[in-house]
Amino acid sequence: MSSALAPVITIDGPTASGKGTVAKALARQLGFHYLDSGALYRITALAALRDGLDLTDQGALAALARSVEIDFSAGRVRLGEEDVSQAIRREEVGKAASTVAVYPEVRAGLVARQLAFRTPPGLVADGRDMGTVIFPDAQLKVFLVASAEARAERRSKQLMENGNFANITTLLQDLRERDRRDSERVTSPLVAARDAVVIDSSYHSAAEVVERIMALARERGVGL
Ligand code: DC
Repeated sequence: MSSALAPVITIDGPTASGKGTVAKALARQLGFHYLDSGALYRITALAALRDGLDLTDQGALAALARSVEIDFSAGRVRLGEEDVSQAIRREEVGKAASTVAVYPEVRAGLVARQLAFRTPPGLVADGRDMGTVIFPDAQLKVFLVASAEARAERRSKQLMENGNFANITTLLQDLRERDRRDSERVTSPLVAARDAVVIDSSYHSAAEVVERIMALARERGVGL
């Protein structure tokens, strides 16, 4: 059955491991669609914060995840009519996203939206559970890791590029806390799929990682 579906490459890993940059570049090179699944959790969290929802109210958060109007067209992220591409990248939104992502009902509320991205000619999907839960039959699964220090530095650079400032020690603490929450949750924890290729990007540029994954894709005949 799955052979009739478009091919998928999944890129999972912890926060700031370089998944987004790598996955976008891969999608561009292969001419595939790109799914930033973290953005779905971030938009849900942003909408919840704006609505003043209690971040422990699983039912209300799940209803929001199912109903929130999300649009990813033209390289922008929209919540309803509003362009929230920048707003969802703020640290407090990332933290809230990790909090709401713990709830199974919230995760379930976002599944159909993620599956809908799998259309020809193919998809590169980035997140935490792309290879384990959402696309278990993916043709190529990558689990991208990097040291906490390398990730904190990348996150700091990313925030500065967007005109925000963050103390590196605080970033490192937040990152470790986020890793713990994402890895220890019961539903869809951050874990490498058994058949994933683990790549450590601490000492490699995004371009080098992309090259390595492109070689793996070629070996498996994905996107050729
Ligand atoms: O990749 P990101 O930093 O934008 O993701 C934000 C949060 O969303 C992350 O801390 C955990 C959650 N998330 C998830 O639980 N499952 C995914 N597939 C993607 C993100």
